Amino acid sequence: MKPATNRKNEHVSLAEHFYQADNDSSFADLQFVHHSFSEMQTNETNLATSFAGLVMSFPFYINAMSGGSKWTKQVNEKLATVARETGLAMATGSVSAALKDPTVSDSFTIVREANPNGLVFANLGAGQTVENAKRAVDLLQADALQIHLNTPQEIVMPEGDRDFSNWLSEIGQIVQQMDVPVIVKEVGFGMSRETLQLLRSIGVKTVDISGKGGTNFAQIENYRRKDYKLDLLEDWGQTTAVSLLEAQPYTSELEILSSGGIRTPLDVVKSLALGAKAVGLSGHILHLVLKEGVDDTIQTIEHWKEQLVSIFTLLGCRVSTDLQQTDVVVTGQTKDWCEARQID
Ligand code: FNR
Repeated sequence: MKPATNRKNEHVSLAEHFYQADNDSSFADLQFVHHSFSEMQTNETNLATSFAGLVMSFPFYINAMSGGSKWTKQVNEKLATVARETGLAMATGSVSAALKDPTVSDSFTIVREANPNGLVFANLGAGQTVENAKRAVDLLQADALQIHLNTPQEIVMPEGDRDFSNWLSEIGQIVQQMDVPVIVKEVGFGMSRETLQLLRSIGVKTVDISGKGGTNFAQIENYRRKDYKLDLLEDWGQTTAVSLLEAQPYTSELEILSSGGIRTPLDVVKSLALGAKAVGLSGHILHLVLKEGVDDTIQTIEHWKEQLVSIFTLLGCRVSTDLQQTDVVVTGQTKDWCEARQID
């Protein structure tokens, strides 16, 4: 088996290698109807949101990516600096590497050191014990715990898990016994309404549907495979737009978060209009930090905030929940999907 530290470096470098400025998360299939009377001023907007009992000044955050090696410590430090300077919440990558090997703990704790007062989410894979979940949160003094679901990634990953029999019950235990909120997330394969129903049935309250269209872990793990490639799984899953539509029956019972291929502030607003409480960015922020550096990334995020204000105003929305009253037209393959699955 390859050491986890190599894997962490490979995930970050391959995510950047395969990064594309154009996403394919089906946001192009969602369009706002323009109405000529907005009847408000830009300075009436308030971008704040809340989920998992946490209040955030902005409706987007840095999603799980990094940690577990020397290089990914440096990446985490940069991401945490961006988070601190922009006031965005931030998740670390899976802390399991540090639970197995304490010598890499500093690649995660750097996130808290660099940003002592910010909102930080720890992250672990499904199939973990309550004890490990508590250790992950304690390590980072985290405000919440993300648990990721990634069966397609594990299947394609040469050294991946092959036993997924008890994920649901183990997550249920963690949700019941943690003192911090638990967010269950996908990793870019999206979710179905059946998955959301199961998560709800075990007491999960906050879910990141993390859809297809941005970072593609089937592609990344295929690249790492030395024997034969499982290319046929590279198109597996639901796009982010489709996953948000699948989530429609649950937007009042679950807190839905959106991620997967977010490239523009308009993608953020479309997600919020479909009921997301907030929107996570991974691949795009990683690309900015690696290619443009910390200062330019901070500047880009400040521009995103300004653009959100502009789009809210165009749509006549003062706060993000107002966006759910906007008129969104669904076209193309996303519309076909909704018809086939009888989603209104
Ligand atoms: C990830 N992602 C991820 N998710 C998770 O829950 N735990 C993890 O450890 C990681 N690791 C990771 C490494 C790298 C380099 C990337 C780019 C991503 C998945 C991530 O949080 C997100 O769900 C997907 O990447 C989809 O979003 P983007 O990248 O398309 O914005």
